[in-house]
Amino acid sequence: MNEWTYEPAPESRDIVTLRSSYGLFVNGEFVDGTGGAFKTVNPATEEVLAEVTQAGTEDVERAVVAARHAFDEVWGPMPGKERAKYLYRIARLIQERSRELAVLETMDNGKPIRESRDVDVPLVAAHFFHYAGWADKLEWAGYGPAPRPLGVAGQIIPWNFPLLMAAWKLAPALAAGNTCVLKPAETTPLSALLLADILQQADLPPGVVNIVTGAGETGRALVAHPGVDKLAFTGSTEVGKEIMRAVAGRRVKLTLELGGKAANVIFDDAPIDQAVEGVVNGIFFNQGHVCCAGSRLLVQESVADAVTERLKRRLQSLRLGDPLDKNTDIGAINSAEQLAKITELAKSGAGEGAAQWQPECALPERGYWFPPTVFTGVSQSHRIAREEIFGPVLSVLTFRTPDEAVEKANNTPYGLSAGVWTDKGSRILWMAQRLRAGVVWANTFNRFDPASPFGGYKESGFGREGGRHGLEPYLAAAGAAEVTGG
Ligand code: NAI
Ligand code: MG
Repeated sequence: MNEWTYEPAPESRDIVTLRSSYGLFVNGEFVDGTGGAFKTVNPATEEVLAEVTQAGTEDVERAVVAARHAFDEVWGPMPGKERAKYLYRIARLIQERSRELAVLETMDNGKPIRESRDVDVPLVAAHFFHYAGWADKLEWAGYGPAPRPLGVAGQIIPWNFPLLMAAWKLAPALAAGNTCVLKPAETTPLSALLLADILQQADLPPGVVNIVTGAGETGRALVAHPGVDKLAFTGSTEVGKEIMRAVAGRRVKLTLELGGKAANVIFDDAPIDQAVEGVVNGIFFNQGHVCCAGSRLLVQESVADAVTERLKRRLQSLRLGDPLDKNTDIGAINSAEQLAKITELAKSGAGEGAAQWQPECALPERGYWFPPTVFTGVSQSHRIAREEIFGPVLSVLTFRTPDEAVEKANNTPYGLSAGVWTDKGSRILWMAQRLRAGVVWANTFNRFDPASPFGGYKESGFGREGGRHGLEPYLAAAGAAEVTGG
């Protein structure tokens, strides 16, 4: 029942020049690979965007060798203030080419242009600026008087924030003096390859950053490579466990940023309209493809009806459709596989007895889509309250007392993030002390800043990214034994 309609306002895709096929970015150049090719599609239209190279074991080997050489000869010995100049230059080029990056990210990922333009790409530039500032100040970061880089970092990233995750990985590693082999996700490789173009434009010395595209096999080859000194992974808990098993007994520093099932807790004294906006941002931002998404809403019983009623009213005004349209709130699901997973879990919610609600909303005929969905009457044993759905699906549970809120919020194997909505500062602090989550947002949700550390507890992984803390995984304290591969 929309009283208002919007004329289409599509962003032009002319700013993006797609090649029909892409090689691997190794030693400063695009090169052919040995492992064949795969296609990447626009999930909103199913149109094939480009062919991308699948890096085989030999290609990963070449990339690690290039990174090792660049570390030994160029980047490792370079003074921090010189490394900083490159990082500043990359940050400025990202800003200059931000529209191109945003449009390409939206085409390859399916996220609304409003988000890639206003959230992802500005944060990418901000991360490079932030870590550029650290490159010549590492002695004051709190990791000893003369911290040293580790060497070659292998970095594996997911598809939900393709370019932002690349920035979270590359910027601190480079600032600390490491060289990198980055593996983007198989459904979203294109923005990292455009970043490679920007790195060339910035005259970054060859081999400092290498990008190997491919799927799980390519990731496995990178994990197994003995020439890697440091591994950073963001993705599913399942693969995180596999990586941990693979590196057990090896001398490699590991950080894992894995799944989540965050509680977003609304107390009866919270400003309800603001809280509802926070809930929408918490679970429907990026189609819910967010590891720290507020996928479990815990509402104090006395305001539960008022909150769910206003939430449903608000959801009726969300616009789902063409991700390149500047008015779009909800874009496409990233892949057919992810859509199948969301669909299956939502079915289980209805099957286990929760009440499913969706706004009236027409789905486009082509592409992968799932409407915003709210389950009420959810109990803690339901799969939709326990498993990461990674889609636009919210499970609503209720509580009576603050103690019960804490108990339910912490009743999960994950521990990445949480949200608290209340008028009382003392209650925010009381809750923040008790919630077992790496990030606790107070009267807001899904807020990111390069100065702020991010990371998990329990099955959400370990290690922190962002800020001063984000340097630690890429540094060895002075006097620490030499870390070498193998
Ligand atoms: P995934 O964990 O399989 O993929 C993440 C990255 O790891 C990709 O680059 C992939 O190619 C790579 N990879 C896959 N298998 C590997 C292996 N054995 N060794 C090394 N690298 C490997 O995640 P997927 O399959 O795309 O999504 C499955 C579920 O995982 C999602 O439904 C969601 O619940 C969760 N997920 C969580 C993310 C987070 O940010 N916490 C990100 C992506 C997925
Ligand atoms: Mg996978």
